[in-house]
Amino acid sequence: MSVSDSTLNQRIEALVADATRSVPAVGDLEALHALEVDLTGRRSLLVEAKRELGRLDADERRQLGQKVNEARDAIEELLAARRLELVAEARSSQLEAERLDLTEREPGRTGRLHLVTQARDRLEDVFVGMGFTVAEGPEVETDFYNFEALNLPPSHPARGMWDTFYVDVGEPGTVLLRTHTSPVQIRVMEATEPPICSIMPGRVYRRDTADATHTPVFHQIEGLVVDEGISFADLAGTLDAFTRAYFGREVRSRLRPSYFPFTEPSAEYDISCVFCAGVGCRSCGGTGWLELGGCGMVHPNVFAAVGYDPERWTGFAFGFGIDRMTAQRHGVDDLRELFTNDVRFLEQF
Ligand code: DAH
Repeated sequence: MSVSDSTLNQRIEALVADATRSVPAVGDLEALHALEVDLTGRRSLLVEAKRELGRLDADERRQLGQKVNEARDAIEELLAARRLELVAEARSSQLEAERLDLTEREPGRTGRLHLVTQARDRLEDVFVGMGFTVAEGPEVETDFYNFEALNLPPSHPARGMWDTFYVDVGEPGTVLLRTHTSPVQIRVMEATEPPICSIMPGRVYRRDTADATHTPVFHQIEGLVVDEGISFADLAGTLDAFTRAYFGREVRSRLRPSYFPFTEPSAEYDISCVFCAGVGCRSCGGTGWLELGGCGMVHPNVFAAVGYDPERWTGFAFGFGIDRMTAQRHGVDDLRELFTNDVRFLEQF
C-alpha cells in the first residue's frame, strides 16, 4: 500500500471517528442534512476515496474499497439514527405546541353549556315530561325529505318560503342542507307505526344574510303526534300546556290561521309577551304577543307519502325556532350574539 493510500486510510478512520462524535450532537434536521452532505456528498472524502480506487492494483483496491464501504455504512447508520431521534423530537414539540388543555380554567370562571344548548335541554325536559320521545335526523337531506314528502312537489310555489343551500353531490338540486326540522317527521313515520308522540330538535340552514333577527344557521324543535282521532283541540291543548310548563303559568298561547303545505289547517303559534305580560312593549312590537313558530294538522298527502292510511290516522305537528325563543326569554336583542361566541356574552348565562 502506497503512502498516500495509508494516509487515505487514516483519514477515513478519522472521518468515522469524527462522525461518531458530531452526528449525535447535531441539533436539528437542517444541520443534520448539511452534515450529511459533508460526510457522504459528491465532495466528501468517501467519494474522493472511491475515485482513487481506479488507480490501485487489485489487492489494494479490495482492501480500500472494503474500508470505504464500511465507513459509509457506519456513517449512514449514525445519520439514520440521529434523523429518527430528531423527527421524534420535532413531532413531540409540535404536539406540545398544539396541545389544547380542555380542562384549563381561569380561576373564577367555569365552563358551561352554550345558551342554545341549555334551551334545547330544557325544551326536551319539558316535552319528555309530557310524554314525548326525542328523535333526530341528518342535517344534509335530500329534496324528497325536505320538500317532496312534505307535500311540496318540485316547482311548488311555497318552496320559496325556504331559501335553500344545495350541496354539490349527485344530481344538481337533489341534496341540500335541511331548511327545517320537518323532514325528521318523515323519517320518524317511515321508521315506526303510529301511535307517535315525538319531538325532533336540531340545527337547520337557510340562505339568509345574518342580521338581528336572522342567522343562516339556527335551531328548531319539531313536534309530531299521530294516532286515531287526534283533533285540533289536542294541538291547542298540548301547546298551551307546553307554554305554561316552559315559560311560566302566567303566560298564555294563541293560534292564528296561517299556511304551511304540510299541514291543513295550519296556524301560527304565539305566546303572550313575557316582558310586558301582553300589554305591548318594544320586544313584542307593541302587539302583546311573540311569534314562536308554525303548527297544524298533518296533511293527508304527508301521511300518503310515508304509506300511512290518511283515512285512519290523524295527527298534529309543530316547529318552533329555539334561538328566537331563547333570545326572547333572555332579552337578547340580536340573534348574532348567540353565535359570535364572545365569552363575555356567553358567560352571563
Ligand atoms: N317547518 C316550518 C318552518 O320551518 C315550521 C312548521 C310549520 C313546522 C308547521 C311544522 C308545522 O311541523 O306543522 O317554517
